[in-house]
Amino acid sequence: MISRRALATSAAATLLVPAFARAKGYEPRGYVGRLERLFELSLESRDDFITEHRKWVAKELRKAAQARAVEIFKGAGLDPNGDVPLAKTVDLLKDDPILANNCWHYVRGQQLMWRDLQAACDKHADQLISEMEHEDKRGKGTLELNPTMDLPAYTKEEIHNQPGGYVGYELAGHLYYYGTNNFWTGLNYQDEMHHQLAKNVAIPADGKVKRILDAGCGDGRLTMALKDRFPEAEVWGIDVGGPMVRFAHMRANDVDNGANFAQRLAEDTKFPDGYFDVVTSMLLFHEVDAAANKKIMSETARILRPGGTFAPSDVRAGQQKLTGYHGFWQWWNTRWNYEVWMLEHVATDYAKEFVARGFTIAQNPAAKAGAQVPMVGIKA
Ligand SMILES: C[S@@+](CC[C@H](N)C(=O)[O-])C[C@H]1O[C@@H](n2cnc3c(N)ncnc32)[C@H](O)[C@@H]1O
Repeated sequence: MISRRALATSAAATLLVPAFARAKGYEPRGYVGRLERLFELSLESRDDFITEHRKWVAKELRKAAQARAVEIFKGAGLDPNGDVPLAKTVDLLKDDPILANNCWHYVRGQQLMWRDLQAACDKHADQLISEMEHEDKRGKGTLELNPTMDLPAYTKEEIHNQPGGYVGYELAGHLYYYGTNNFWTGLNYQDEMHHQLAKNVAIPADGKVKRILDAGCGDGRLTMALKDRFPEAEVWGIDVGGPMVRFAHMRANDVDNGANFAQRLAEDTKFPDGYFDVVTSMLLFHEVDAAANKKIMSETARILRPGGTFAPSDVRAGQQKLTGYHGFWQWWNTRWNYEVWMLEHVATDYAKEFVARGFTIAQNPAAKAGAQVPMVGIKA
């Protein structure tokens, strides 16, 4: 039997089917800046529609839901910002049609987006996999895959309803890349948010940045932005998902970026003690269970040199209060949007955990999600 995959990557196929050649700059539908366009125009149109729908949900429907939550609390004689137990908040709000409208639009839009993208990825799988194979051993930076890796159970969840999660679908990198373009409601098509984070990243007081690790790098956008900002540094992106780092490496090659990518665990990075000056992570901690989060913090303390900085994007000092609409939304997100570890995450006082591992803390109370890091650990 003819192997279509082998055919797709053969020299003959390169001549016969130019889409597989991945010659620099050649793509059937082209690029918009750094963004490679989706495989089909109809898919792109639907994706644009879903992105606009998400904007409307996040702005208008959420506003209406928040106002309605205040009314319901007041109607029940409760302070909307008071310490109402989460179970009571859920009981009060979960069947209200305005809140339900907001939540279900959010989740269903997301499910539609994943389903549509995955169907297109499946349809174009031969081409997409061949393109990655073509790049595996090329480029300025290296790629390390570990197909026999022992995957901890928590990493196999289909977080935010992403089909197959990060480890269970060969095209998870493609799915995440285009899917999160939708999450960022069109504001990150040129990796703007990741460049902003890289620009703001806290560096050691002595200004020396020779080695950087981006843990849970996903599709590699922050890793690449860090390499852009520190071109002389050795920059690594690691992720438990083989398909994630494979996609990241291919994309880095597209723009001639020299970051290295490896399929490794953030709690067992395999790097020597004190190796890094800076460790970053974007949106890692809220997707990991509490026990593994503790191991990741300890491992980061081990691999940072004295004075090195640890800048995760999604951790804060103190436990978050799960009150009012915010509490309800976190519950909903966990239950229906499958953000499995969210409630454990918001109950963790990361400042306390950092200090217990020998970090001092620098706070950034002005930090806004996506652009700046709320809290930085400095290794003693
Ligand atoms: C929400 S994504 C964030 C990806 C990327 N940092 C970004 O900003 O888009 C979380 C990533 O963390 C990875 N991850 C989860 N647990 C991990 C672990 N223990 N070690 C390494 N990566 C992990 C997942 O595979 C996923 O790619």
